[in-house]
Amino acid sequence: MCGIIGRVGDGNALEPLLTGLENLEYRGYDSAGVAVQNGSGINVEKRSGKVEELKSSIGEPLQGEVGIGHTRWSTHGPPTDANAHPHTDESEDVAVVHNGIIENYTELRERLAANGYEFTSDTDTEVIPHLVQYYLDAGYDSEPAFRQAIDELEGSYAVTAMVSGEHVLYAARRGSPLVVGMEDGEYFLASDVPAFLEYTDSVIYLEDGDVVVVDEDGVEFTDLEGDPVVREPETVEWDPEQAGKGTYDHFMLKEIHEQPTSLSQAIEGRIDPAGGRIALADFEPGTFADVDSVQFVACGTSYHAALYGSLALNQAGVQSTALLANEYSVSAPPIDDDTLVIAVTQSGETADTLTALRRAAREGAATLTLTNVVGSTAAREADDALFIRAGPEIGVAATKTFSSQAVMLTLLAQRIAADLRGEPPADLEALLPELESMPAAIDDVLAGSAAKTVARRYSDSEAYFFIGRGLGYPVALEGALKFKEITYEHAEGFASGELKHGPLALVTPETPVFAIFTGQEDEKTLKNAEEAQTRGAPVIAVCPDDHPAVEVADDHLPIPDTEPDLAGLLANVQLQLVSYHAADLLGRPIDKPRNLAKSVTVE
Ligand code: M6R
Repeated sequence: MCGIIGRVGDGNALEPLLTGLENLEYRGYDSAGVAVQNGSGINVEKRSGKVEELKSSIGEPLQGEVGIGHTRWSTHGPPTDANAHPHTDESEDVAVVHNGIIENYTELRERLAANGYEFTSDTDTEVIPHLVQYYLDAGYDSEPAFRQAIDELEGSYAVTAMVSGEHVLYAARRGSPLVVGMEDGEYFLASDVPAFLEYTDSVIYLEDGDVVVVDEDGVEFTDLEGDPVVREPETVEWDPEQAGKGTYDHFMLKEIHEQPTSLSQAIEGRIDPAGGRIALADFEPGTFADVDSVQFVACGTSYHAALYGSLALNQAGVQSTALLANEYSVSAPPIDDDTLVIAVTQSGETADTLTALRRAAREGAATLTLTNVVGSTAAREADDALFIRAGPEIGVAATKTFSSQAVMLTLLAQRIAADLRGEPPADLEALLPELESMPAAIDDVLAGSAAKTVARRYSDSEAYFFIGRGLGYPVALEGALKFKEITYEHAEGFASGELKHGPLALVTPETPVFAIFTGQEDEKTLKNAEEAQTRGAPVIAVCPDDHPAVEVADDHLPIPDTEPDLAGLLANVQLQLVSYHAADLLGRPIDKPRNLAKSVTVE
């Protein structure tokens, strides 16, 4: 996720561009840049770091009435000055900002490089200005050159571009958001409305496939073929302070609702259902062929994702274990050259996880970091890094990063198992289409959730228990962690079979039990839930509509039918919503729970 802003109008564009970038920093903040047009061509200022640092590094104010800006959350290449946007061609005739992932950038880059175009960054984005320049060099006018370039992109994008000497912005959208703002001869293009809300509340949202041309006379909407399309203007009724959260009251709720998008970004280009394989281009085929065991190290929610990954690996026939990073120094299993240690950390900066990662490296393990932050310490220190592409997560309670971590670990487990065996695991064929439809399945959960009603019904309880089996177990742990950290109520997660080995003593009519059904030995989990129900506890079944648990349970939170490897992640969305609504009813400061920090950088 990155933030894009563009502006055309009278007066200098720099101030609205920088204001826009500050308002978009919730979408990314590892580097920032602007480009403005003046009589002597396009001037670019960009650097790693936050918008504040960009602002103070702009000495002589840039002058120009047309400009574009970008605040970045790295996906291709670390957050360096060279990788910051805008990107240009060598002669700085074309400047481009982009949000999304260009899947065919390697192919485009090779073709353009063979034609003499020189690249100066590691980004996928840089192919776009060169491609536009390629068509300009071939004699096309600017608009057709832009269209030709867009037509060749595969993947997702929101792109805004300008060409030297013109008072025009060109933009296109596929899979990443873009919106136009309009006010008395001043026009904006942005990833989100907060970018320009101080200037106008009159907006038009682009739809996938739209191409727009903006100049001081107005905005022209067309499709990719150049045929006009009609898009209606709307008035947005948010105040600028609320705007980063959009229509949501809290970042946590917004981030829960972003999961269809964050998961699409995570899997984009990484699965190949038609070819029946995991297409993790980050790793050469055979990378994991010599791995004989995998150890995961992580804390908190990331530990639950790690446990999910570890169980997925075990089920795929690969020896694996998940360890709390803060326990690793006293409980690490033996390591040898064929041990792979995977650090799972959203921030990449958690001190406990870094210590465990360093210990594993010292002892000779191969190391890999799964993280959301490209330039983070864990990403830099491990032998390899795999990025979950969830975009910044502002709420302290991890939500969208958990689902992206768990899905990426599901892919990785399949990939490691395939490398070890020399062929894809047998169940991969069934899993791939389900993985592809996860974003839509999460949309379904979000659209029809009864979580608020359930949260209200059990709001006077003494404690809240979560049970699950197999891949439902880490989800039970995560459901309980989320509930306790934002409601401050007592909540515990258990492997459902463990209930009768002790925790059942806690069960009363005042302790609702959330039971997660994933399709793995569900009849046993149902029996465990009934044991709690017999002691008076209300049971809330999280399962598909046609599941036998629905008949037994006191309440039901439905999830679409899917493979057992993924069902727990749909259940997790229901549980995130229950925690959110329970905390909201109690009036808790949901985005910043007491005593907690987003990133824990001390041991
Ligand atoms: O940045 P990390 O993923 O390494 O953070 C680890 C934990 O501190 C974190 O997952 C924490 O448990 C969550 N914020 C809880 O929602």
